[in-house]
Amino acid sequence: MSRIVVTGGAGRLGRSVVAALATAGHEVVSFDREKLEGLAAEQISVDLLDGEQTREAFDRIRPAAVVHLAAIAVPGALPDPDIFRINTQLVWSVLAAALESGTEAMLVASSPTVIGYGSPGGWSPASLPLDEEHPVAPWNGYAASKLAMEEIVQMAVRQHGDRMRFGVFRPCYVIAPEEWGGAPTQQGHTVAERISDPALSAVALFNYVDARDAGEFVAAWIAGARDVPNGSTFFVGAPDALADGDTADVVRAHLPSLAPFADQLTGTESVFSSDRAERLLGWRATRLWREQLSRTTVPQEATR
Ligand SMILES: NC(=O)c1ccc[n+]([C@@H]2O[C@H](COP(=O)([O-])OP(=O)(O)OC[C@H]3O[C@@H](n4cnc5c(N)ncnc54)[C@H](O)[C@@H]3O)[C@@H](O)[C@H]2O)c1
Repeated sequence: MSRIVVTGGAGRLGRSVVAALATAGHEVVSFDREKLEGLAAEQISVDLLDGEQTREAFDRIRPAAVVHLAAIAVPGALPDPDIFRINTQLVWSVLAAALESGTEAMLVASSPTVIGYGSPGGWSPASLPLDEEHPVAPWNGYAASKLAMEEIVQMAVRQHGDRMRFGVFRPCYVIAPEEWGGAPTQQGHTVAERISDPALSAVALFNYVDARDAGEFVAAWIAGARDVPNGSTFFVGAPDALADGDTADVVRAHLPSLAPFADQLTGTESVFSSDRAERLLGWRATRLWREQLSRTTVPQEATR
């Protein structure tokens, strides 16, 4: 068992990361401005934008590892310069405090948006499915902040070598457990609406991951960080697309710039490949939308 800090532990993804780490037997501490009733972690109120407060919190807890999730998590939630400044300042603050307190591992949440899909200037893939080798081309302040965070991690690997293990993960559109039953997703609509109106999910190239699966990825990274190349980046998504029908068909219908590449997709497979996480860490998402929605949706007949 190790003591692990989760920044943003009270958030949409943080709650499931805390739960998965606690289930794996770790002692979890959430560093967040918010507190959440029932979280399986000690909760410390800290504004991670404040370097001094952050240092004090790390000095007090002295974790073996930190999972850095705290961020402005929604593109457009603030003006681009503010999102960029806040998200990069947060990672600097956490990195400095982690290094000073002797933390041995740091995993940072990035985002698939670094790839650049949806750019108003046009975007098309180099190939499909998209993997970690695909070129990046962020087009808004959020995605630019996430790419800068990835670069800060690579810088830290070069600066600190094997003194500390670093990793980056790019979780796909996170669906918290209660959202299968109709609670609003990050964009305000329900999962069922995301399926029935494919345009809603097309903006994220039909990607998704159940927050519990993402939590289990984090636990797998904590267990395996010493055995994978330092600074590795991972897509973390479900193996299938959040769309009714074959992915190639929905891509042709809703994503014209990807249509020439649609033949490279098989069956219901995701536009994003999480094969690296499976190959290096033995992790694969198991909570698929078809099962999760049917488990929580009241059958039509029952309501008649
Ligand atoms: N939700 C998604 O679909 C998704 C997809 C890709 C990447 N991500 C990334 O995953 C991470 C978590 O996302 P989420 O959806 O759980 O976001 P969230 O907004 O639900 O949670 C973020 C948490 O960080 C905390 N926080 C923010 N600023 C803070 C500060 N200055 N000091 C202390 N705490 C602070 C908030 O209080 C909140 O609890 C983010 O880095 C986000 O960019 C999320």
